[in-house]
Amino acid sequence: MRALLENHRVIVCTGSGGVGKTTTAAALGVAAARMGKRVLVLTIDPARRLATTLGIANSSDDVRVPKQSYAGELYAGTIDSARIFAEYIQRHAKSQETVDRLFANALYQQMATTLSGSQEFTSLSKLYDAATSGDYDLVILDTPPAAHAADFLHAPAKLNAVFDSAIVSMFMGRSSGFGLAASAWKQGMKLVLGALNFLTGSSFVATFNDFFSAIDAIAPDIRETNLAAHELLLARSTAFVLITSFDAAKIQEGEAFHDELAAAGYQLKKVIVNRAWPQWTPFTEAEQNAAQRALKSASGPELATLHARLSSYYSARAGLHTRFDDLMTVPEMDDDIVGLPALEQLASRLVPDA
Ligand SMILES: Nc1ncnc2c1ncn2[C@@H]1O[C@H](COP(=O)(O)OP(=O)(O)O)[C@@H](O)[C@H]1O
Ligand SMILES: [Mg+2]
Repeated sequence: MRALLENHRVIVCTGSGGVGKTTTAAALGVAAARMGKRVLVLTIDPARRLATTLGIANSSDDVRVPKQSYAGELYAGTIDSARIFAEYIQRHAKSQETVDRLFANALYQQMATTLSGSQEFTSLSKLYDAATSGDYDLVILDTPPAAHAADFLHAPAKLNAVFDSAIVSMFMGRSSGFGLAASAWKQGMKLVLGALNFLTGSSFVATFNDFFSAIDAIAPDIRETNLAAHELLLARSTAFVLITSFDAAKIQEGEAFHDELAAAGYQLKKVIVNRAWPQWTPFTEAEQNAAQRALKSASGPELATLHARLSSYYSARAGLHTRFDDLMTVPEMDDDIVGLPALEQLASRLVPDA
């Protein structure tokens, strides 16, 4: 794990929801800061108390995490989709008039916050900016909750399909749209129409036209940003970490993530089984038998039965992880992970030699 932090400039924490992605991302940040790195952790929807610990509860700027004293420095930020989108458009639009028109547009307001792909787009765009800013040695990205790795990795492409100039052209009454792949077009239409559900009648057409004439100029930049961000994700200096947990359903989802990432060529460098409980050292059969005998003679059959059942439960669970090679387990901590000391404790588990 130490080498992983040492040798990469971007670490992407993936996995299905509720497995401890955000917490792990923050703890990896602590470990990297201890190793002397200037590190930024980009979180998505952190639990309130974690956000408070990181100093980002009331700010969408990247901040230096308070109360730290490490060899390096730990920074944290959240992905605020609506705001990142707005800044992106401010930066790329050709005129202030375009910006004003877009911001006032009902479809834009819908898109910036709810359109499928926009949170992923803004995550990647922010990751790209942070990683290429020169301000940090390492950027650790937490990803939005998703059931499949593909949801995150392909979402920007869906957004591309919506913004594709060819589609825009069709709606603008130009004729260049016919060569477009039918599936991308259908996909794009579905998203656009979904986002437009809230509009009716003539305001529909006006809003639609206005939106696309404003976005037309920015669409190529959006595609370019997506391409650059994807190149960054595929770079040798980027590592993926998969977080899963100690239950059959999450492990199955984890295996699917694992296969999707590998198939798409991303470097999955580590699998973390979080909240693995309990952490028993492997017993030999002789030790197991001795424990059984001791329990039976000291306390009768009930405790011995309980011991036997727990042992077989644990080995069945441990047997679920055999598909992953580079795997580490993190125990269920005694308390919820609140405050910097708790994150530091988790960091010591993840990277003992940091
Ligand atoms: N190893 C652990 N031991 C105890 N609690 C944990 C552990 N990992 C995560 N948690 C707790 O689980 C909850 C969900 O974690 P979070 O990182 O927000 O998950 P995710 O980002 O995957 O949805 C948080 O309250 C966090 O403190
Ligand atoms: Mg999370």
